[in-house]
Amino acid sequence: MKPVTCIEDLRRAAACRVPRAFFDYVEGGSYAEETLRANRADFERIKLRQRVLIDVSARNTHTTILGEPAALPLALAPVGLAGMQRGDGEILACRAAQEMGIQYCLPTMSVCSIEDVAAAVAKPFWFQLHFMKDRGFTRSLVERAAAARCSALVVTVDLPVFGQRHRDIRNGMGMPPKLRVRTVMDIATKPAWALSILRGRRRTLGNLAGHVPGADTTAALSQWIAKQFNSPLGWNDIEWIAGLWPGKLIVKGILDVEDARSAVKSGASALVVSNHGGRQLDGAPSSISVLPAVAAAVGSSIEVLFDGGIRSGQDIVRAIALGARGCLVGRAYIYGLGAAGAAGVKRAIEILRNELDVTMALIGVTRIDQLNRGVLAAV
Ligand SMILES: Cc1cc2nc3c(=O)[nH]c(=O)nc-3n(C[C@H](O)[C@H](O)[C@H](O)COP(=O)(O)O)c2cc1C
Repeated sequence: MKPVTCIEDLRRAAACRVPRAFFDYVEGGSYAEETLRANRADFERIKLRQRVLIDVSARNTHTTILGEPAALPLALAPVGLAGMQRGDGEILACRAAQEMGIQYCLPTMSVCSIEDVAAAVAKPFWFQLHFMKDRGFTRSLVERAAAARCSALVVTVDLPVFGQRHRDIRNGMGMPPKLRVRTVMDIATKPAWALSILRGRRRTLGNLAGHVPGADTTAALSQWIAKQFNSPLGWNDIEWIAGLWPGKLIVKGILDVEDARSAVKSGASALVVSNHGGRQLDGAPSSISVLPAVAAAVGSSIEVLFDGGIRSGQDIVRAIALGARGCLVGRAYIYGLGAAGAAGVKRAIEILRNELDVTMALIGVTRIDQLNRGVLAAV
């Protein structure tokens, strides 16, 4: 691999190694991708205060998220079908996160199952739950996550229906994917990717396969998934899940102050300010633009986590300064996974950690708890 200096280098490497349909699935946002672009553009508008002649020789990026130690205020976000970027992708990402001292969140729509990941890694990980119309199946997922000793349950609430992603329709990237001829030809030019997928434990949705009654073929699974969303959900359903789940509960997908207050009342331990990486409501504000108001509304009653558009350690500084306890990244580590498997994910985390560390020095702080609005420049 050429020298990898930043997340953009990993993105370019992934674009060369992963077939276009699967790369586009990661890159894309919903509809006109306005919110996807806003997630980045609004970050770039936030400027940092350069400070000098402050002793910053002893810096520490460590913190805690939900009481768990973290080597930096970061966790790997749930990303569906990561196992199609690289065979066993979820296991590789989880191992890399654990080696780097941060949390990994396995999604419901993963290729490796909860049990596959639990058997392959040393420490507990988080599990992301999609509410399904089939309550029995939803309950069984919660029970499987508890049996696998997952340390937190992340309930995604911003996906009652699927935001349309034009690129995925053109590429046949549904759930599960149906490959177009063009993609098959593309795969033929990416033998290393194909080999890694063939060597992986599975090539379908591991948490669903064999567990969904009457959906043992890909076509039947696809029909079953299509029926499982768009169900009548409310905050009382979060309470239902809290009653089933013995550990910490995180509500993911809050973008509105009123919803943030409801999340506090629901008894969740944390919320994630998120617009699903610009993949759901197009026209929604960027995550970073709503973070200050959400953080102010909930105060210290709940931990505020954040995702959407983070591509650098400088972005982590901005989000923590504006009220987040910790950040999640999706695409930033998935590029690493597509580029170089576990080593690529570790490199992504290392890049973010090093950028965070140097940025702390240049803004004159030595600890994460010193990151507040005072480190931001008025523009
Ligand atoms: C390819 C892809 C798949 C995703 N799948 C899920 C998912 O299954 N469940 C979920 O809660 N969020 C999912 N997300 C959203 C991420 O958890 C996270 O909110 C988002 O990626 C953050 O934005 P970023 O990619 O700019 O860091 C997905 C994001 C991407 C890019």
